[in-house]
Amino acid sequence: MEKKREQFLDLVVYEVYLRSFKDGDGDGLGDLKGLREKLDHFQELGVNALWLTPCYKSPDADNGYDVADYCSIDEKYGTLKEWKELVDDMHARGMKMIMDLVVNHTSIEHEWFKAARTSRDNPYHDYYMWADTPKTDWRACFGGGVWEYNPPTNEYYLHLFAKEQPDLNWENPKVREEVRKIVDFWIDNGVDGFRCDVLDHISKDFEKGIFVNGPRLHEYLKELFDREKTRDIFIVGECASNKNTIEDICGEGRGELTCVFQFDQIHLGRLDKWTNAPFKMAELRDIMVSWQEFCEENNLLYTLFTDNHDQPRFADRLCRNREFYYETATCIAATVFLLKGIPFLYQGQEFGMLNDERKRVEEFNDPETWGVYQENVGKMDEKELLQKLNYGSRDNARCPVAWTGDEESGYGFGSIRPWYPFNAHADKVNLQKDKSSKKSIFRFYQAIFALRKEFAVLRQGAFKNLTKEADSFVYERRLGDERILVVCNYENAQTLSLPNGEKNLLLTNNEQRRGDEGAFLPFEVAVFQIK
Ligand code: GLC
Repeated sequence: MEKKREQFLDLVVYEVYLRSFKDGDGDGLGDLKGLREKLDHFQELGVNALWLTPCYKSPDADNGYDVADYCSIDEKYGTLKEWKELVDDMHARGMKMIMDLVVNHTSIEHEWFKAARTSRDNPYHDYYMWADTPKTDWRACFGGGVWEYNPPTNEYYLHLFAKEQPDLNWENPKVREEVRKIVDFWIDNGVDGFRCDVLDHISKDFEKGIFVNGPRLHEYLKELFDREKTRDIFIVGECASNKNTIEDICGEGRGELTCVFQFDQIHLGRLDKWTNAPFKMAELRDIMVSWQEFCEENNLLYTLFTDNHDQPRFADRLCRNREFYYETATCIAATVFLLKGIPFLYQGQEFGMLNDERKRVEEFNDPETWGVYQENVGKMDEKELLQKLNYGSRDNARCPVAWTGDEESGYGFGSIRPWYPFNAHADKVNLQKDKSSKKSIFRFYQAIFALRKEFAVLRQGAFKNLTKEADSFVYERRLGDERILVVCNYENAQTLSLPNGEKNLLLTNNEQRRGDEGAFLPFEVAVFQIK
């Protein structure tokens, strides 16, 4: 692997959903000031890069994923000056800043769209996608159809997401030039990377009914990213991919993306986003193994993650018994974050924040959840519907971070009522409590990242699956003479067949464990250096 790409394996990225992270100015909304106050937290945890969700000017139809001005910071979050100070501070600490780039669509309040919708002759009209009558029967990601009527021009515009998020027309070279300017603006201001929102949707073919991985996708991506200016930038795409398509988008030398989020594991334990299904932990292992082997063979960089702002909390969903939540969460962590790839953690995951429980439909904020509600209300029992929404809603991951257990002081998030209620479990699950517990998830993650830092083998070393017992995951990372063995036992206590060799215990979630002898408890993890 080329040196520059290999260096990306040193990254440990933490996703900040800004509005719920930390309120620094006392208005109930997380902001840049609050984020800056918490930089020590990241360093303590061993994180060296942040992915900051959109904080550009936005009317918030989709909490910032509807951008009204790409080269600004929304005043509710701070100023561009504050953003630059934050980035300087991060750089001084050796941390990287990855910004969210949301360019499949804009907000309806973007100046381009405001002009575009006034007349068919407006110079900005062709920045968006129009039709005299709906061209397709595609369903929008947040419910309803994708075509919205625009009276002044007597046409319909396309929106793959909410109707407040009109799709940009990438076929128009001017749009592509605008996007290039946005990318360059942030690079000139010091960003180290981008997380590209739903980038796989930018090329469409209406005739063939294609709106994912469309015919001109690669051309557009090369044009945007295969440039001197973007050469050293880390670019991770939110892109649907499989083993047939992934190399085209992030293969070495393609001049497109550095890597993509691959979502196979996210679907574990559910029939669809809103309905649960039986699962086995070993399925998580199998997904990981197949991608580790594939990426190794094809020289691809892989992203390691289980959580983000669009998904209910993974460890909670997979946990069968909350009494063993620490064991489950740490076992998932070892299953994923000691593999080869770039770790991405989502806020609150580092101390095991749980999913939320809303009692009434009105309590949801997320437009995706509302879309599902609207499509099912009246067709389904209300209680059942509420259960469904609670199960799948993105709001599960979006409650304000509970830094402390003190409700009076807003759980350390902020002094006044937050924009969205605290998680129902904030009293019991908060960073302060976790850190003072003997079984601390934070400390486990901290140890994982410390190991990744200390041992090059955990960053660059090859992966080898050594699993013998079906209900477990045993793998080795190897680099020259360096060998690290990761042992994850799953549902049942059992003795595991492990490779020979003198083993030095580096990390475990069972304080009784001393070496590799004896049966492993359910969800027990042990990490050894092999001499
Ligand atoms: C991505 C974002 C999600 C957003 C959607 C539309 O999937 O992660 O939060 O709603 O794109 O921009």
